[in-house]
This record gives sequence, structure tokens and C-alpha cells, in this order.
Amino acid sequence: MIPNRTIDPVEIRRRAEEQLQSRQGADAPISSHEMQRLVQELKIHQIELEMQNEELQRAYAELEALQERYFDLYDLAPVCYVTVNEAGMILEANLSAATMLGAARSALAGLPLSRFIQKEDSDLYHLHRRQLFTTAEKQSCELRMVKPDKTTCWIQMAMSITQQPGAPECRMVFNDITERKQAEELLVDMNVELEGKVELRTRELLQIQKQYLHGEKLAAIGLLSASIAHEFNNPLQSVTTVLKGIGKYADLKEKEAEFIDMALQECRRMGNLIANLQDFYRPSTGKYESIDLHALIDSVLPFVKKHLHTRKIAVVKEYAADLPAINAVADQLKQIFLNLLNNAADACEGGGLITVTTEVIGRENVVVHVRDNGAGIDPAHLGKIFEPFFTTKPHNKGTGLGLSVCYGIVKDHGGRIDVESEPGKGTVFSVFLPLQGVHNEGVLPAK
Ligand SMILES: Nc1ncnc2c1ncn2[C@@H]1O[C@H](COP(=O)(O)OP(=O)(O)OP(=O)(O)O)[C@@H](O)[C@H]1O
Ligand SMILES: [Mg+2]
Repeated sequence: MIPNRTIDPVEIRRRAEEQLQSRQGADAPISSHEMQRLVQELKIHQIELEMQNEELQRAYAELEALQERYFDLYDLAPVCYVTVNEAGMILEANLSAATMLGAARSALAGLPLSRFIQKEDSDLYHLHRRQLFTTAEKQSCELRMVKPDKTTCWIQMAMSITQQPGAPECRMVFNDITERKQAEELLVDMNVELEGKVELRTRELLQIQKQYLHGEKLAAIGLLSASIAHEFNNPLQSVTTVLKGIGKYADLKEKEAEFIDMALQECRRMGNLIANLQDFYRPSTGKYESIDLHALIDSVLPFVKKHLHTRKIAVVKEYAADLPAINAVADQLKQIFLNLLNNAADACEGGGLITVTTEVIGRENVVVHVRDNGAGIDPAHLGKIFEPFFTTKPHNKGTGLGLSVCYGIVKDHGGRIDVESEPGKGTVFSVFLPLQGVHNEGVLPAK
């Protein structure tokens, strides 16, 4: 601050007379001519002094104006200015800084600034301050400040050094960046959420793509199988007829008749295989109609009854009380449940339990779970069981087409089929079907 001194002319006059008297005492007598010259000189001095006085008044007026400007610029500035000494004690703070720190301006002087800095950020502050006094290079950092009312705010602190006559001082400018920091934090949260969503969606898409590729593969194999099956069927029929004819009309020895029977048996097996292959590619010309799923499953059970009986397998039905009718192709659905029940029965070789559960999911889908407590599926096989021709059954027992057919039919209905299995504990196949058959327009999203 600049001292507000004014020039008192009376005081100066008094001091000048005192000095003159002290000088006259020591000087020799003055001639009248000399006296006149001195008076003349004094007058000139007086005018000079008056002029200097005016100059000084003007200089002080300018100084006062500068002081006011300084007050406007420093104290009332919208940014916060704080000056600290090398030990970090506050020397000066403008009004904005005092408001931000929540303390009276007069109370700030002499306090360590670190008192207002959040504990976790104080190392950062000390490091930059030390760096400033060591290198005299400008420093900048972002840290949190704690106000006396315990609220915190983020500030950007810019530090520069000022060389004062005594000791160097650190001038700081604070900018409140709380809003920017909050926006950044929100952005990070949103980013994390978005990444999660993208990951989930990517997984879903990959699953759909996998199903789609599988579907494509099935369709291609299906087409090929259907044409091969068709080509093979006619000669097979001829061979069967010839073999039957030989068996009936030729005079065969016991061993020869046995061979003919074996050949016929193999022909029947081939016939079944061909029928399965034709099933595999059955163009969806089937009629969509309203279907009572419970009645449909019940109508399939007698076909597996013998199978179940001989193996001492019990079937439990846990049907939902309010299962609505679904729009689907009846004979195709029968094929699904026949395949699943046969597989379940095959898995329970030494006896067991098959549970068929139905459930409504939301307002648009139903699910049928076919659960068994049989052998379960080896985890290494889980990814392959829907592939055509994948089978672990002896060659005269399974063609490996059952689940491929199920997969194709469920997909055509706009549904999906899931499997969960634990070796030694059992397996559950879940068939999800939309209430409204979608005529192959889409696939239910994967789990
Ligand atoms: N419930 C189940 N428990 C254990 N393994 C199963 C079950 N269902 C299917 N699998 C396994 O999946 C394989 C493929 O089944 P899929 O129905 O496609 O063919 P398959 O039953 O072997 O032959 P097909 O159905 O033509 O008679 C089976 O060989 C078996 O290893
Ligand atoms: Mg099967």
C-alpha cells in the first residue's frame, strides 16, 4: 500500500527558518548588494518549490488513482488471488479468494494455506510450491480445497514467483473447476456404463451371429442331405425289394437266410437315416396355428413310453397353470419334444427321472424345460451337440441329427434353445418360443 502523505507548507517554512538561523549564526555579515541578490534567489527558490509542490501533488493524485485501480483489479477481480511466503503462510488474499475460502480477509493473513487444502492433495500442493521456490518456474496443479463449512471444491492453482525486496513471494491464482471436474467424473461414469452396454451388446450380437452362422450351415447341409437322401431312397427301396424277394423265393440255407435278414436290417437302418435326413430339411411349409403346448407334449409322450418303461424312467409334468396358446407349426414342435425326450431317456440308461416344466416369460414368450437326471454332457461336447451328425451314441443308435433338427425348427419359430448340463448330475434343455410365431423373422436374444 502507498502511504497517503500531503505536503504541509507551514511545516516546511518553519524548518527552513530554523535552518537559515543556524546558518546565519556561523556566517559573516552580508553586504546590502549581496542581500538583494540573496532575496532575489530566495524568491526564485520559492517559485521553484511551489512548482515542485504542485508536481508532487499531481504525482500523489496519480498514485491514488492507481491505488484505486489496483483495488478494482486485485481485490474485486472475479478470480482468486492469494500471496504466500516461502513457508506457505498467507500474506495477502483478494476478496474473491476470501469468499472462496469462506473466511474473513483479515483473518486469512498469517494462516498456512495448506489448512484449506484437502489432506489427500496436500502433498501435491507442497511439491509444486517447493518446485516454484527452487526453480522460479511457473507451476500449475489441480486440487481440492476444503472450506470451513467442510464443503469441498476443485480448483486449478497457478503459481508464479515475485521478487520482493525482502524475500521472494508466491502469487497464486485459483480458478474454480468444480463443475468441470464433476462433468469429467460424470463422463467417466457414463463411459464405464457405455462400455458395459457395448460389451453386453457385442456379446449378444456374437451369440446371434453364431446362431445365424449355425443356421446357415444347417440350411446348407440340410439342402445337400435332402437331395442325397432323395437320390439314395429309390435304389435302397429296390435293394430292399430284391433282398425280400430272395428271402421269399430262393431256397436258402440257414446261414444264407441269416445274411439276408442282416442285409434287410441294415437297409431298414439306412431307411431310417434317410428319413431323418429328409426331416432335417423340411421347408417350413407347415401351417401356423394356435397350439395348446401341454396337449402337444402329452401327445408325444406315448411315442417314448416304451423307451421309458424299459429303462425304468419316470416322467413328471410341471405345467404352468396359465400357459396361453402359442402360434406355431404343430408337427414341427412335436419333433422337437420327441427328440428331447428320446435324448433324455438315452441319458438315463440305468433309470431316472425326466421333468417337463412349462413357464410363461413376460407377455410374449413361453419356455419348456426338459430336464433329466442322467449322465450329463461332457463340457468339451457342449459346443458341438447342435452340430449335425455330432453324436456320442453307438453308430446304430444315433445319427446325431436330432438336436440340429430341434435347433432349426426353434429358429424358424423365432425362438431359441439353451442347454445346461453337469456331468453325472443331468441336463436341462430349455426351448423358448414366442407366443406369436414369427415365421423365421427373428431370433430371441441370447441369455
Ligand atoms: N439329455 C441329454 N443328456 C446327455 N447327453 C445328451 C442329451 N441330449 C443330447 N445329448 C448329447 O448330444 C448328442 C447329440 O444329440 P442329437 O439328438 O443331436 O443326436 P443323437 O441323439 O446322438 O442322435 P439322434 O438324435 O439322431 O438319434 C448326443 O449324442 C449326446 O451325446
Ligand atoms: Mg437325439
